[in-house]
Amino acid sequence: MSNKILSIETSCDETAAAVVAFNRGKIKSLSNIIASQAALFKNLGGVVPEAAARAHVRKILPVVRKALNDAKTRLNDISYIAVTVGPGLSPSLLVGSEFAKGLSYASGKKLIPVNHMLGHLYSGFIANPNLKLPAINLIVSGGHTYIVLIESRKKIKVLGQTVDDAAGEAFDKVAKMLGLPYPGGPVVSKAAIAGKTDYNFPRPMLHAKNFNFSFAGLKTAVLYKIRDEKLSVKSSKVRADICYSFQNAAIDVLVKKTITAAQKYKAKTIIMSGGVAANKMLRNKMKNAAKKIRAGLVVPEFSLCTDNALMIANAAAIKLHNGFKPITYKKIRINPVMGIK
Ligand code: KG4
Ligand code: ZN
Repeated sequence: MSNKILSIETSCDETAAAVVAFNRGKIKSLSNIIASQAALFKNLGGVVPEAAARAHVRKILPVVRKALNDAKTRLNDISYIAVTVGPGLSPSLLVGSEFAKGLSYASGKKLIPVNHMLGHLYSGFIANPNLKLPAINLIVSGGHTYIVLIESRKKIKVLGQTVDDAAGEAFDKVAKMLGLPYPGGPVVSKAAIAGKTDYNFPRPMLHAKNFNFSFAGLKTAVLYKIRDEKLSVKSSKVRADICYSFQNAAIDVLVKKTITAAQKYKAKTIIMSGGVAANKMLRNKMKNAAKKIRAGLVVPEFSLCTDNALMIANAAAIKLHNGFKPITYKKIRINPVMGIK
């Protein structure tokens, strides 16, 4: 007899729900639905929390209903409801958590609160449940940049994180400087393909003796380059060269730090997750670097790299397997600034 989890994710600008079946640690995906709000924020340079929350309110019911329908499951057949409680935007998190509480109240099903970053962290296990440990996980998203040591599904240790901007945030800000739409990652990496001149932007904290990152300085270096040399961002050549140079610098740092951590902790696998892991150049460079130190590289498929509810259901199932006892709706609290735990 397998249990089923319905999961809900609304931490930023994707309204998402998924259903998984799980049995003794084995997890099977039954549905994974996402309604993205990217179009809403395309020309605004980033997410507007109030507008994101309103869109979640409009989308959450149809998204949850579709997740149940696609899984050919009724709410009655669900064992637990998992919901993202942080980190994320407070108004967005509230929509998902209040909705989950309402469902729990009406159905009597217990809840599993899930840390969004744990969702990204464990997403490498979705397609690769037997990946070799210890692993080093680089989590690179719009809001976070972490290097985490995974010794087991129970034992994780944060080795380093960004001291200012996240990697994805730097892509988004550079795109904005160049008049390119949000989210910046896909458009910056596309523009970079035609880049020829490398401006050699700084590689912040590349040689620091820790696993922390800093991307604010790199972003400012891009800004000063455009301003001081009076570059016209209307020129597609300028945009291509800036994107190419920025991407080279950002990726150099991400790869170098991850590989250094993998060597130090004798990692058998390197996992990359979060939206920036969708970047082709990062994937290629990490693949080559991992090969040199004889570590395997696991990158979840694109739709599991960016925000989704399947990773939340997966993390909830791992939590249960590790002994977590589901809680009542009265005990659910969001925490927009929680770390990984
Ligand atoms: O994980 P995610 O969907 O949302 C957060 O939890 O933040 O990540 C979104 C971030 C955005 O900053 C976006 O610009 C970045 O991932 N991103 C990329 C690429 N695709 C998405 N960054 C670099 N290259 C890409 N191809
Ligand atoms: Zn995320």
